[in-house]
Amino acid sequence: MRLPRGLGSRLVALLLVLSCDVSWGAYRKDELDGRPALAALGPRNRRSLEQNRTPADDGTCAEKWAFQGALENDTHLCQFDLSGELSLMWIGDGTGIILVLTTFRVPLFVMTYTQSKLYRSNDYGKTFQDVTSLINHTYIHSEFGMAIGPDNSGKVILVADVSGGSNGGRIFRSSDSAQTFVQTDLLFHPLISVLYSPENSNFLLVLSVDFNLWISKDFGETWKEIHHSVCSAKWAAGSTIIFTIDGNNSCKADFRLMTLKRTSDFGQTFQVLRDRVHSFGLWGRFLLASVVELDGLNRKIHVSQNQGDKWNVAQLPSVTYEQFYSVLAANDDMVFIHVDDEGDTGCGTIYTSDDRGILYSKSLERHLYTTTSGETDFTNVTSLHGVFITSVLSEDNSIHSVISFDQGGEWSPLRKPENSQCDSTAKDKEQCSLHIHAQYSISQRLPVPMPPLSEPNAVGIVIAHGSVGDAVSVSRPGVYLSDDGGYSWSRVLDGPHHYAILDSGGLIVAVEQADDTVNTIKFSTDEGQCWFYYKFTNDSFIFTGLASEPGALSLNVTIWGYQPGVVHHIWMSYTIDFAHILHKACEERDYILWLAHSTDPQAPSDGCVLGCKDQYFRLRKSSVCQNGRDYTVSKVHSPCACTVDDYMCDFGYYRNENESECVEQAELKGHELDLCVYGEEEKLTTSGYRKIPGDKCTGGTQYERKEIDMKKKCLNAESIKVPTSSLVPVIISVVFVMLVAVIAVVLIIKKHVCGGRFLVHRYSVLRQNMDAQGDDPLDTDFGPPHRGSGFHDDSDEDLLE
Ligand SMILES: *[C@@H]1O[C@H](CO)[C@@H](O)[C@H](O)[C@H]1NC(C)=O
Ligand SMILES: *[C@@H]1O[C@H](CO)[C@@H](O)[C@H](O)[C@H]1NC(C)=O
Ligand SMILES: *[C@@H]1O[C@H](CO)[C@@H](O)[C@H](O)[C@H]1NC(C)=O
Ligand SMILES: *[C@@H]1O[C@H](CO)[C@@H](O)[C@H](O)[C@H]1NC(C)=O
Ligand SMILES: *[C@@H]1O[C@H](CO)[C@@H](O)[C@H](O)[C@H]1NC(C)=O
Ligand SMILES: *[C@@H]1O[C@H](CO)[C@@H](O)[C@H](O)[C@H]1NC(C)=O
Ligand SMILES: *[C@@H]1O[C@H](CO)[C@@H](O)[C@H](O)[C@H]1NC(C)=O
Repeated sequence: MRLPRGLGSRLVALLLVLSCDVSWGAYRKDELDGRPALAALGPRNRRSLEQNRTPADDGTCAEKWAFQGALENDTHLCQFDLSGELSLMWIGDGTGIILVLTTFRVPLFVMTYTQSKLYRSNDYGKTFQDVTSLINHTYIHSEFGMAIGPDNSGKVILVADVSGGSNGGRIFRSSDSAQTFVQTDLLFHPLISVLYSPENSNFLLVLSVDFNLWISKDFGETWKEIHHSVCSAKWAAGSTIIFTIDGNNSCKADFRLMTLKRTSDFGQTFQVLRDRVHSFGLWGRFLLASVVELDGLNRKIHVSQNQGDKWNVAQLPSVTYEQFYSVLAANDDMVFIHVDDEGDTGCGTIYTSDDRGILYSKSLERHLYTTTSGETDFTNVTSLHGVFITSVLSEDNSIHSVISFDQGGEWSPLRKPENSQCDSTAKDKEQCSLHIHAQYSISQRLPVPMPPLSEPNAVGIVIAHGSVGDAVSVSRPGVYLSDDGGYSWSRVLDGPHHYAILDSGGLIVAVEQADDTVNTIKFSTDEGQCWFYYKFTNDSFIFTGLASEPGALSLNVTIWGYQPGVVHHIWMSYTIDFAHILHKACEERDYILWLAHSTDPQAPSDGCVLGCKDQYFRLRKSSVCQNGRDYTVSKVHSPCACTVDDYMCDFGYYRNENESECVEQAELKGHELDLCVYGEEEKLTTSGYRKIPGDKCTGGTQYERKEIDMKKKCLNAESIKVPTSSLVPVIISVVFVMLVAVIAVVLIIKKHVCGGRFLVHRYSVLRQNMDAQGDDPLDTDFGPPHRGSGFHDDSDEDLLE
């Protein structure tokens, strides 16, 4: 357990006397009056809070413009040439290096005028240098032009768009965080972004426009073609490459039957892993493939835990070509899979896997996931273990938000915020719940500028747009915040906002999304109870988005936008450094111990979720200090005694309603046969019980039962008939499914300006250790162009025509 170092405090206690002006849309949820947020603290913790209460802390907020003068010296303006599109990326963690690419394209008669500019900052965006000359003023692809190496490798590859005449493409490579570039001409044109091996940033792979797989072992200096007819390829552990090939060299059909292959020695030998594969993905130790059955109609998920050596069929319903599977979230413990319902219902069922990825339990029915736009609200609340939020579609087609605190075990509505009234969708004005606007609302073009936000190092904090009633409503959304991982909520801002979490939750900033000019940023040092205002410019400024370094450790935030009414539209950025506001380093007394998931302080099992109890050292709301870059979450972790809720029934066993015992099924029914026919795992034994994946309980209820070999059960099962019918030609309208919980944060903001042209503001906030594998849903059409690299804007037709 380590707390951030305490530095001497020179100017303290400014913010303890704070007053909020409610007419400005600022609310205060008093932290000391024992409301639900606090009820979550054990009695002892609450006492320690009260002891620390200062006389000055009378529940009001300070003057909201208090820091206007102090921040003016810490605001830095940058301007960028040309309008068009803008992409930005951080290079490395804590380096402060940002690369900005602006691209501009205008068709001129038979030619196209293209220009791109490259800017580099090494001070978190305070200043930018035009470094376009480093790449000889070459036009860079806006779609997948920038590929940043993993970790702090400082590697950058820019893919030039050299259309016309030339035989091959061109890349610019940098190993020194874009200070210098080397130009390399290629024998092929890249189709997708260059993919780095997560284990060695010198190992690269890329697909060419003619579907050849090229690899490089020397950071792109030399390239070797290792396979043709490749439709998609991914790095797996140990610098293994797993890819699909389409024998007929098309990769273009809507519905392909591909062969899954693997090479572990950079293309010297290949292994065929699976035939008839529709799509595949890698999540943690799970390799999942959606495999078309011999009837040519249905698909099933096949799972391997050892990169394809051995496979098992997931015990999930099969789907037809009109339906889809999508992996919603996965880690090394388990997988969340959405299985689309039959018919175009816009919903399906969520299943959660066991620790082998084979056995699935039904988690949530009528889960919203549209086939047309491929949108789901499924959100992993990363600030508290086990919490997920998503939406269900009710029979009357209204949408409701639900939350699970135990990794999908149970789902319930979100509690109504204390400081909000039920809106007109509520039948009972006293009883209603909070509904969260996420990806689906954004796709429906509601005024929701951002999906819910949480950060692993800002423990318990969740910020989201929402409405309060019986269902998600289209009324102007407000911003809600939970400080206990989603148990209790309060309304913190009126109207749609962009928001960001800085300094591990010690600072939250927000800028209102308005149709006209914006010049004020709001910030809170007490998890949204009181807000300060800062006017960062006197000029008129059209705001498009906020950006801060991924990881929420920074105190620098950049406000992006442009100035209206000028002939020449240029991007502008204001970078604000909040270090002087939070100048004091946090000390031990700035933190309190907080028990997560606490719902019943009297019970000994209070706070137990997935077999453990976590107590976190959290910053007090009243503390105004800097967690700092070196901050790491410190927690006290204690195992809980096992109860019946920590176990699920294994294969061939089930629980009678209201009973805890798993009883053996009388006969092996249809779906167990899959295990016998396709199952390749040598050892499949069971005692009928299985711990829920990721569950860390010890002692308590244990089940003593002899393990039996599942293979023996198979001997009794009839052999199944393999259909002899020939392949049915399968032509479908492609269902494009996008995973929401991508590792890359993508923000796309568009503004209609300049006589029908669009300025496209595209942030691709790629985590330096971005897991290139983890960002595809399972059943995506993996064909060109490569999607889900965190870069794709599928509405580019809006661009200059
Ligand atoms: C801002 O900078 C100016 C010039 O460096 C200085 O005179 C002024 O005191 C600073 N203001 C604050 C609030 O720090
Ligand atoms: C720029 O172009 C010149 C001549 O074509 C070439 O020698 C040089 O290597 C290029 N520089 C970079 C950084 O690619
Ligand atoms: C290739 O196409 C032929 C006819 O067009 C078809 O019979 C064959 O099954 C296809 N092969 C694969 C691997 O899809
Ligand atoms: C949810 O997010 C947390 C924090 O990033 C991560 O540790 C966990 O593995 C994720 N869960 C799933 C199922 O993806
Ligand atoms: C805006 O104008 C006021 C009054 O002229 C001035 O004091 C302030 O410094 C200006 N603010 C900025 C951000 O330029
Ligand atoms: C903010 O930016 C400055 C450089 O301009 C940097 O020194 C500082 O470390 C940054 N703050 C944080 C918390 O990242
Ligand atoms: C299970 O328990 C619930 C609540 O206690 C009850 O309503 C239901 O009837 C029970 N079901 C059976 C099959 O006993």
